[in-house]
Amino acid sequence: MTRPTELPAWKALQAHQADIGALHMREMFSSDGERFERFTLRAGELFLDYSKNRVTDETMKLLIQLARESGLEEWREKMFAGEKINFTEGRAVLHTALRNRSNSPIFVDGEDVMPEVNAVLKRMEKFSRAVRKGDWTGYTGKAITDVVNIGVGGSDLGPKMVCEALASYARADLRAHFVSNVAPSDIISTLKGLDPETTLFIVASKTFTTQETMANAHTAREWFLAKARDEGHVARHFVAVSTNLKAVSAFGIAPENMFEFWDWVGGRYSLWSSIGLSIAVHVGFDHFEKMLEGAHAMDRHFHEAPLKCNMPVIMALLGIWYANFFGAESQAVLPYGTRLRSLPAYLQQADMESNGKSVDRDGQAVDYATGAVLWGGNGTNGQHAFFELMHQGTRLIPADFIIAANTHNPVRDQHAMLLANMFAQTRALMWGRQLDEVEAEMRAQGADDSTIAMLAPHKVIPGNKPSNTILMRDHTPYTLGMLVALYEHKIFCQGILWRLNSFDQWGVELGKQMASSILPRLSEEGAVTAYDGSTNALINMVKGMMHP
Ligand code: F6P
Repeated sequence: MTRPTELPAWKALQAHQADIGALHMREMFSSDGERFERFTLRAGELFLDYSKNRVTDETMKLLIQLARESGLEEWREKMFAGEKINFTEGRAVLHTALRNRSNSPIFVDGEDVMPEVNAVLKRMEKFSRAVRKGDWTGYTGKAITDVVNIGVGGSDLGPKMVCEALASYARADLRAHFVSNVAPSDIISTLKGLDPETTLFIVASKTFTTQETMANAHTAREWFLAKARDEGHVARHFVAVSTNLKAVSAFGIAPENMFEFWDWVGGRYSLWSSIGLSIAVHVGFDHFEKMLEGAHAMDRHFHEAPLKCNMPVIMALLGIWYANFFGAESQAVLPYGTRLRSLPAYLQQADMESNGKSVDRDGQAVDYATGAVLWGGNGTNGQHAFFELMHQGTRLIPADFIIAANTHNPVRDQHAMLLANMFAQTRALMWGRQLDEVEAEMRAQGADDSTIAMLAPHKVIPGNKPSNTILMRDHTPYTLGMLVALYEHKIFCQGILWRLNSFDQWGVELGKQMASSILPRLSEEGAVTAYDGSTNALINMVKGMMHP
């Protein structure tokens, strides 16, 4: 397999970067009145402005060529067709089937998965409607008021992010809580204030073996039984979402209270499956379905749009341009507003667990950068925290800004302020403030020459910092579905161009194995000597510190 760095387009991009890498976006905008028209695109209800990037027509042409030379179109077909592209685990990658609203058949091992997908959706609908209407009651006949999703990673981050994002659609009398960390304070502080009679636990785990989730689920069960007493009541308060029927039954949850999904759904792509049950209960199944529709619309766009006007493709290529040709090490995601505050954390798993790899599909060590460090936070808060480094630091940090034109909570002109701040940041990052401008401004304010000489260099903002703006009219379940699917496909494209298997996570598995081996040692008699000097010493130190 040809390495990406050996492809003609890669080499051409290297030469091109040497030509235009130093060009300032100020000049690009000044010399081109139609830059915005050429470097923007629409996909359904999402609009992308990528004109504030260090690209020219030639850059985009070469990047698209790179996508072609990497076989992106062929790989895209393979994914949608259900081929087992997650070859290290022998699995198809078919989260798109979960939101396949056109219901066209999708085959895995010769079998159409759509009837099963639809059947589980029907069960989710029935269950979530019953809970919301008060038809599904707790063991004393009271309606459910609190739903606690117990899961971690993909079994937590997606539903949590979506429930927060769609809070405007939720009912105040049916609250959602998320417990993920094995640290006892997480479950204990969540249970505080909850009533076992009106609390429903959703134990969400693809494998149903994850240590953190199982531990929290057992603690929740004990808490519940301390009041309910009778094991027979568990059935009305614990349901499971999993692919592992055997383990679910062993935990004591009856098969009729298990919502299934399948091994062709990766954990980090699972919010569209029954892992989204907490979403359906909290914001309603109709809204959950709208989110699926939005994601499906993005799937179709990704599948059908030509590469040069394909939003996930363009975003993936821009990320590669900075990571591999400018040496950028990270990617910021900056949703403006408060509802999408957990989007960066959600995307961290989606992106970094997928493309944080250093061997290619042939098992060869890569000699180029792969997945960027994804980080971020919501605006305007970030402006008062980490933006300084983006403006004046030494690193190049491409950033995605995300905003809706309208708010669900119109109050005074606060949403206009949010918008103004976002526009100000993308412009300031791009335009900056040059030395002569700083000096002129200071002079106009009456500063003397020595003050200007001393202060001016500190006030210079270099600019030329790239950003994308993703804009939507309203923040709805539909646009949220589109947005999340946009990033999923962006990650897919980057994985293909970097020649990775984006669908396994062996690094994470190693940590899980080691944790299981270390746990019994913490209560073992005598000194631990099984590991390296540091790990042994730390474990032994902690054993000496632990309360009896
Ligand atoms: O963090 C690693 C991981 O395997 C993720 O991929 C997954 O989303 C998470 O653990 C939870 O796994 P499970 O749903 O099986 O409990």
